[in-house]
Amino acid sequence: MTPTRTFTLLDENSQLLCELPVLKGTIGPDVIDVQALYKNTGMFTYDPGFTSTASCSSDITYIDGEKGILLYRGYPIEQLAKRGIFLEVCYLLLYDELPTADELTAFEQNITMHTMVHDQLTNFFKGFRRDAHPMAIMVGVVGALSAFYHDALDITSKKDRDLSAIRLIAKVPTIVAMCYKYSIGLPFMYPNNKLSYVENFMRMMFATPCDDYVPNPVLVDALERILILHADHEQNASTSTVRLAGSSGANPYACITAGIACLWGAAHGGANEAVLNMLKQIGDVSEIPKFIARAKDKNDSFRLMGFGHRVYKNYDPRAKLMRATCYEVLEELGLHDDKLFKLALELERFALEDPYFIEKKLYPNVDFYSGIVLHALGIPTNMFTAIFAMGRTIGWIAHWDEMISDPEQRIGRPRQLFVGATPRDLPPQHR
Ligand code: SDX
Repeated sequence: MTPTRTFTLLDENSQLLCELPVLKGTIGPDVIDVQALYKNTGMFTYDPGFTSTASCSSDITYIDGEKGILLYRGYPIEQLAKRGIFLEVCYLLLYDELPTADELTAFEQNITMHTMVHDQLTNFFKGFRRDAHPMAIMVGVVGALSAFYHDALDITSKKDRDLSAIRLIAKVPTIVAMCYKYSIGLPFMYPNNKLSYVENFMRMMFATPCDDYVPNPVLVDALERILILHADHEQNASTSTVRLAGSSGANPYACITAGIACLWGAAHGGANEAVLNMLKQIGDVSEIPKFIARAKDKNDSFRLMGFGHRVYKNYDPRAKLMRATCYEVLEELGLHDDKLFKLALELERFALEDPYFIEKKLYPNVDFYSGIVLHALGIPTNMFTAIFAMGRTIGWIAHWDEMISDPEQRIGRPRQLFVGATPRDLPPQHR
């Protein structure tokens, strides 16, 4: 990246403090390169929550929050979701270009051949209570993968990084389905190599050894789209966590596990589960005004889950697509009178007409409708974030791989504004 112009910093007496290069990307805001700021001025920047901070350069995903635009490697999310082939999107995010038909077939076959997990991995589940949250199990079991794959942990080797990526894309759905089976006391289902990626996942989730299971193609298409919509989202909290963990040289399984742990938070990927719990708490359309008032009350910690976004100050394009998927799934299942969906539509209408939400630009985000779709697909509420993690694994891996390959990459080590005690001696009684 070549500097386009210079940002001049003056002190309170208009004396030159420092000149900083301004860098321009292909689209989106320019950035002030502050790497030399501390050396030249003895000062840090201060940006809790990183609202104005670009942590890296990336060519994977672009978001325009004002216009509600989301591009994966330049392709609009609307077009990719319409095509509805999640593994094609995985290939695109991983290798920068869409696959030819032959490349996609080879990629799908490669993924299929890695869907089974080491049989000893099943022992890890036995240590958890049956009512353990699936995300707690995911953190434990995905983290344990690095204990099974010593053969390809050299992060400086592109070949090893590619194999780890394939293993993670292939095995996370198997582990997610195992979390579900374990929680309901049913035996694990092995992957079936004759099925597509999403068909295979749905069979591992809902089939038992005692019966055949034929995935409903409408529901398979819906889940393909849900995974595509969740695949990547620039430098969100969990992806930034994966990058920071990876910057120390940690292995890819440990880094993805860090991402899973971060995603679990209700402000992030845990929001879809929180949305459904919130809708159940609201219960009836007549109760909506009360909860809208609570969401606006500064003294009340209640927030309208599924609303608001750090970047989108317009409708989250994924929410629109998820809403359409919601209709299709509920129609296919004869649930168009679904109480929760009707309540969600009414809550959305209330919020979008309310001056508080309009002024603060709080629109429904991807999590607002995903919970309802997943609920309609028969996926239990506590599994929603695990499904989100399944979709986001490819985004985490793509960013991890990009970070490792970035010549600018160094260990991430932010500084601070210290507001604690100034130097003092121990009191006599403690010496
Ligand atoms: C995801 O970053 C990503 O890309 C994330 C994600 C991805 O794909 O990776 O898109 C996935 O995490 C989507 C977001 C899911 N989370 C939720 O739906 C939880 C509810 N939303 C909020 O907690 C909140 O909107 C955040 C966390 C999403 C964004 O928080 P910000 O950007 O730090 O905004 P903020 O908390 O500073 O809120 C700004 C104002 C505040 O009021 P003031 O202090 O300015 O008076 O808006 C208010 C907030 O109180 N506000 C809300 C609200 N969200 C923000 N008020 C009521 N209900 C809400 N949901």
